[in-house]
This record gives sequence, structure tokens and C-alpha cells, in this order.
Amino acid sequence: MLNSEKTRVLRVLSEGIATGTTHLADGIALSPCADFTSEELLKQEQQVFFNDTPLLVGLTADLPKNGSYKVETINEKSILFVRDNEGEFRAFSNVCRHRGAQVVPDGRGEAERFSCPFHAWTYSTQGNLIAVNRERSFGPICKEDYPLVELPTAEKYGMLWCKPSPGGSVDVDDCLGGLSEEMEAWKLDRGIYQTEQIIEADANWKLAIDTFGENYHFDVLHRDSLAPSIKGNLQTHDVYGMNYRMVFAYQSWEQIVESIPNAEDWPFMGLTLCVYFIYPNTIMLLDFQGCDVLRMHPVGDATDKSNTYHAWYRSPQFLMYMAERGQETHPTERITDFNSIIKYEDYRVAESTQRSANSGAVEHLLFGRNEPALHHYHNAHRRGLHRPAMEILQVA
Ligand code: FES
Ligand SMILES: [Fe+2]
Repeated sequence: MLNSEKTRVLRVLSEGIATGTTHLADGIALSPCADFTSEELLKQEQQVFFNDTPLLVGLTADLPKNGSYKVETINEKSILFVRDNEGEFRAFSNVCRHRGAQVVPDGRGEAERFSCPFHAWTYSTQGNLIAVNRERSFGPICKEDYPLVELPTAEKYGMLWCKPSPGGSVDVDDCLGGLSEEMEAWKLDRGIYQTEQIIEADANWKLAIDTFGENYHFDVLHRDSLAPSIKGNLQTHDVYGMNYRMVFAYQSWEQIVESIPNAEDWPFMGLTLCVYFIYPNTIMLLDFQGCDVLRMHPVGDATDKSNTYHAWYRSPQFLMYMAERGQETHPTERITDFNSIIKYEDYRVAESTQRSANSGAVEHLLFGRNEPALHHYHNAHRRGLHRPAMEILQVA
């Protein structure tokens, strides 16, 4: 984030702390429960959001070396993400051109080439078919005609983007909707990959995203976990195209700023947690340790199941800070603790909301004025699907 913007955000939060106010949306929005139960809507979402739209699929640090790869399933398709032997980020349908077997197993690793487990057809990191096992007996084949099917990708500002269907291209600046300079300033390209976990939930993928969309719930749901360190019901509100940024304040705010009279000297990273929604399915959290990237996906045709791919990257400065103090770093412990909060607090209530939506007990959920990000996410999704914005109950 640029320094001028940091100062502005700190002033907004400072005023919010002094007055007990937070950014307010224009009214209370009605979110139809059918948005979380409709099979028809899910089909449209799968097509538009998880097939036709470029997705943030990770950070540069996911593929640190030539030959680094990761395989994951997006919208029922296995995709191979790889840094090729010339250092370029590429993505391929992970489908063998012989008889369609998954070429590379799920997970991460490093390879100079990829050999299919069925009959050992072998592909380069650039997706070219370079060897056909027992080629003479298989029959004549022009190998150039059978590369892995390539998907459009782009790597910029330390972010990896991919459109999960062939054809077209990815314009990262267009996707970022005005956040380019800010993302560049975060120096995400220097992040160091720590670990990744997948959180399964019996809740619609949008309900999973929604749990990150406000801190009104911190003092209640997270009173013993997050509330002791982060102030509840206080956030900034800034929209960047389809994306969104909120900034939260740590409880230690007053203690830190009391000895620093000039707001321009306040330590932004010591005072705040930045939360980004990156359209259509990603939450990025940036704090003094580094960056969490959480990508929410539907699972198959189930309207009430989602997977959250949660990867964590730490900044080199933080790792150096820890090393200088001889402090051990436990990436798995930290992400497991964090995911326990997500799974057993946030997603537990999201699952209960899903059951309520399934039961038909109520027609709408309500998004309050103090939950402006929820208004934004849902209306951005609606815009993407050419649906009208949510109905608003006007405040008298
Ligand atoms: S399916 Fe891959 S080599 Fe036969
Ligand atoms: Fe939460």
C-alpha cells in the first residue's frame, strides 16, 4: 500500500476508535437464501466464475524454481501449474493426450518432465509431448499435435493468475480493478511459501467467503480467539472494481500510538490487518508476518459444499526478524491454529446458515450497514452474472 493511503486509512480507523463508529453501507441488504441452495445458480457460477473468469491461483512463491509445480482441482478439472524450464509460469489441463489419465498427481513438487502413470507418455515443463512409450508399436503419431492443453496465465506483482479454460488471455491489471499499484507495493513476489491446507465445509462457497466479510462478529463468535487481538465492528471500506479492501485494527492500537504524536509516523503493519476480496473467490490477508491466500471453491454439483485452499506465505523481513531473535518458526502450527478458528468457529456457523437456507425457514438473510463488504461481494457476483443488485431496505 502507498504511504499516503496508509496514512489515510490510519486516520479513518483512529476516528472510528475515538467515536465508536465504522464504515456504513447505505442500507440493509436482503440476501435471498436461494442464492445458497439453487442448483441452477451454482451451474451459472461454475461456468462464469470458475471457467470463464481469470482466477488468482497463488503467489510467485508457489513455484519458486524452474520445474516447480502444483496440481489442484478447479471446477472438477485437474490443472497443472508449472514454472517451465525457462522460468515462465504456465498452466495445463492435467489430462494425458493418450487416454486421458491424470498425468501429475495432486500436490506440489519439482520435475524436469512429467510422465503419465498409465503408459508413460512424457511431457516437458512447457507441455510438449516429448516421448511416446514403445512408439513403434503404438503407431505413427505427430507428437507436436498432442501437447498438454494449455490454459491462459499471467504472473504479475508476485501473483499467479489463470483462466481455467483454454482461449483468450489474462490481463492482471484489468482483474485488479485499480489495485495494481497497491499490490506491487506489497512486494508479494518476495513472499516465501510456508504451507497449505484445505478446509472442507458443508456450506456454499459464498457463505465461506462471507465469514471473512466483516468483523461485527468478532466480539461474539471469536470472543476468546480473535477478539483479544483485533477490534470488532471497526473496518475501513474501499472498492476497487469488483475487488474490495477492508482494514482492521489491533487491540494494541492505543498502547502503540500513545507515544507517537504524529499519525504519519504510526507503524501501519503494527496496527492493522488488511483484508482483500479478489473477485470472484479469493480472500487475501496481509499482516506483519506475511500473506494468507484463501480461495473458496464449490465442490462438484453440491450447493452446500465448499473447499477453501488456504496457503500461507511469510515475508523475508519477518523471517529474518524471527531468526535474529533465535525464535523458532512453526508454519504448520500457525496455519493449523488459524484454520481451527475458521473451521470450528466461522465455518461451523456458516454450516448452520446453510442448513437454515436448505430448510426454507426464512426467505432472506440480512446484511447490515456495518457489513459493507458483504453488500459488495454479493453485488459483484451478481454483476458478473448479469443479475440485479440485492434489494436494500432503506434506513429511515
Ligand atoms: S493415458 Fe497417459 S500414457 Fe496412456
Ligand atoms: Fe470470523
